[in-house]
Amino acid sequence: MLTSHRLLHAYIALLILDNGWLLDNGLAKLPPMGWMSWGWYMCADNCTHNPNKCLDEKLILSVADAFYTEGYQEAGYEYIIIDDCWSERTRDEFGSLVPDRKRFPRGMKYIADYIHKRGLKFGMYTNIAYDTCMRYPGSRGYFEKDAKLFASWDVDYLKVDGCFVAESYLDHAYIDLGKALNETGRPMVYSCSWPYYKLFIHKHAANYSAVLPYCNLWRNYHDIMPAFGNIYYTLKFYEKNYENLYKFHGPGHWNDPDMLMLGTHSLTPGMSRIQVAVYAMLSAPWIISCDMNMVTPFDKSLLLNMNLIAVAQDPLGIMAKPYQVSRLTLWVKPHMPMKGDKYHSFSFTFVNFEDKFQYVTLPLSKYGISTNESYHVLDVFAGKFVLNVTRKDSIEVDVPPVDAVMYTLYPL
Ligand code: GLA
Repeated sequence: MLTSHRLLHAYIALLILDNGWLLDNGLAKLPPMGWMSWGWYMCADNCTHNPNKCLDEKLILSVADAFYTEGYQEAGYEYIIIDDCWSERTRDEFGSLVPDRKRFPRGMKYIADYIHKRGLKFGMYTNIAYDTCMRYPGSRGYFEKDAKLFASWDVDYLKVDGCFVAESYLDHAYIDLGKALNETGRPMVYSCSWPYYKLFIHKHAANYSAVLPYCNLWRNYHDIMPAFGNIYYTLKFYEKNYENLYKFHGPGHWNDPDMLMLGTHSLTPGMSRIQVAVYAMLSAPWIISCDMNMVTPFDKSLLLNMNLIAVAQDPLGIMAKPYQVSRLTLWVKPHMPMKGDKYHSFSFTFVNFEDKFQYVTLPLSKYGISTNESYHVLDVFAGKFVLNVTRKDSIEVDVPPVDAVMYTLYPL
């Protein structure tokens, strides 16, 4: 692992010589946490028709208030991101993007200030094409202008989509827009969809070595929706593509499996545990998308579970490795604390997608534990230490149908 990171840095140094520019914004050293409008609100621009599901200033400020007053900010949730459908349908006479005058009457700088006053950060959305995916104005032809505008609004995070463009353009547009962002001098987390469009629209394998130096995070699979089917296929994609993905994943550059769907009343408790546990194991971004007033006490207890967040936000940022164990998927993740340059603390997550209980006995020495330490085993969802083990022991687990069990092993 350490060696492959060294190789990656040598590769990045070569790219600097080659292109003379790299992202290098020092951001997203931990997987970003926050809230984004799309997963739940989508293009909710018809506020007269549906005032309760409306993408407007009131909504964004209310998320900032909820983060600030309900413990989310203390837990690490930071970015509040407005997705597609925020602007007027056309640019103004000077060619600038204009926030929808009815829904965002005081503009985006007002929202940024409100968010910043609460110690939180502000994110926005655009697309590299002439239009956004929902046919609002996109940034093609205006990269410098839009980058300056976002910087003038004090944006901290920009999600950039990749609909409606040719592959040859896709391969340089993300680099060009990133460069324009960098030249504003305002550090903005740069979220790309380059690998997703490359693979699923242009049908060519994503070249992650090319993406990594330019983007802080990148989508590589279809949109998550408030339905367990989408989550299931996303997790299976990460399982099947582990060997392709893990090498490019780490501080400052993350694979992004898309939003957490807790708070949308579309998942059972077991399904919610599966999504948060695997996202924690993957060191994936934790971006929720929901009406903050709809978050149940149970969902909130998962979203604010600090034992889980400690694994999700571990500074090593390692993507867990999947194994098939009997009919379960097992994810194993090494994390802090380390001993010298050796891993000696781990989490294990057992995922059961089947409709029956699945029982397994897991010999720890077969799954990455090579030290002679003794460990306390924390049942992350129960919030208690359940036993002590050494590598010579086995763990027995009985995982309920469509549910996950997560253990963290801390050295004694
Ligand atoms: C694409 C993205 C989504 C969202 C929409 C907005 O589908 O993958 O996350 O940003 O566009 O139109």
